[in-house]
Amino acid sequence: MNNTEKEKKCWVCDHAISPFMSFGDMPIANNFLNKEDFKDEYFFEMEPAFCENCKSFQLINQPEPEKMFHDNYAFFSGTSVLMDKHFKKFSESVLQYIDQDSFVVEIGSNDGIMLKNFAEREIKHLGIEPSANVAAVAKERGINTLVSFFNKELAEQIVKENGKAKAFIAANVMCHIPYINSIVEGIDTLIDEDGIVIFEDPYLGDVIEKTTYDQIYDEHTFLFSAHSVKNLFGKYNMELIDIEHQETHGGSMRYYLSRKNTRPINKRVEEVFLKENQLGLTNHLTFVQFKDNCERYRNNLLEILKDIKKEGKSIAGYAATSKSTTITNYCGINTDLIDCIYDTTPLKHGKFSPGTHIPIVPHEEFKDNYPDYALLFGYNHSKEIFAKEKEFEEKGGKWIIYVPEIRVLG
Ligand code: SAH
Ligand code: TMP
Ligand code: ZN
Repeated sequence: MNNTEKEKKCWVCDHAISPFMSFGDMPIANNFLNKEDFKDEYFFEMEPAFCENCKSFQLINQPEPEKMFHDNYAFFSGTSVLMDKHFKKFSESVLQYIDQDSFVVEIGSNDGIMLKNFAEREIKHLGIEPSANVAAVAKERGINTLVSFFNKELAEQIVKENGKAKAFIAANVMCHIPYINSIVEGIDTLIDEDGIVIFEDPYLGDVIEKTTYDQIYDEHTFLFSAHSVKNLFGKYNMELIDIEHQETHGGSMRYYLSRKNTRPINKRVEEVFLKENQLGLTNHLTFVQFKDNCERYRNNLLEILKDIKKEGKSIAGYAATSKSTTITNYCGINTDLIDCIYDTTPLKHGKFSPGTHIPIVPHEEFKDNYPDYALLFGYNHSKEIFAKEKEFEEKGGKWIIYVPEIRVLG
């Protein structure tokens, strides 16, 4: 979505904004492509900005949603066993707010990883998922799914057909949507007077604390904080009643909201606001510093990779995550530095990484071709990956990790 004609205005509050840095031209993070498509690859200039007025961290420009979410979307939530457990727990926290007769709506329901927990309990549910291929997996599992983008108009249609919802839930999708006001208006239309909204997304606080700039890629219009969520939902008379930090995706925040003055507010909310003030999440100078940190991280990582190559050693990437697209493109990591990326997603196999065109190879082939070093792009899945790849280290392999700081293990 091109914001330039609008003179760079905040997606949330229309306040004038300007970028504090540019990551340069970036491809679609999940567009793993074939060789014949290299020449037509789409790029956009990725520039983050901070809105001083509503405290939203955002991308100024973003590709059209249909370019990212379609019938060949490469991200299947169910590829991680730990995420499966995570969403079971998430569903349990939703159950505390609803009963057996409630209606639950999830957006970005993907392959049904969350909603299956409601379907199993025979709780009325509906998933809204525009990427038809991942939605098809959910439907096969018996999860009610509508292949569509959520917005205010769709919310009206859902209410007409199903009545109001008791719970609106979302994971790793609210931050994907530039027309966020239409989403929150839709939520306002959709939920009951005593409805609950629970959603989680990668957290700005973690990105700033750990310089995990790889959370910034085309799909992530926003990196939310408690301050920005409060301001966004406050416009529609909703307030934060609870908040919980999560370890997923390298550090996420789960937000609980309801209509103002309908539920008690947990003291954790105030604690997070205070911590955000201390971290500088409300101050634009923090982002000027963040830019310097990104540049330093890029230089340090490149230095390590180049030194290893100088010694004549081999490096492979591990896990072709969406986040890795920012790392490889911003740092200029291509096949001069890493030979390939091992990954578990069949749809990515035989294809090439967005922008940098590194071959993606099935992870089963890792053990027959151990490199000297493996650059762990999937650091958010490190527990799962280290557990299954113990032999790599036993045979002398070394992991290169870049979160929370750049280190070589083994
Ligand atoms: N909730 C899952 C999937 C996150 S990926 C998880 O946490 O693992 C984001 C998903 O949101 C994608 O499947 C994408 O197709 C979907 N999506 C993107 N824009 C959307 C919109 N406007 N409404 C509903 N879903 C959307
Ligand atoms: P993301 O959830 O951080 O975007 O990344 C998921 C990618 O990581 C997906 O392409 C699958 C890959 N992956 C592996 O290759 N091995 C693993 O053990 C796990 C958990 C994920
Ligand atoms: Zn704003």
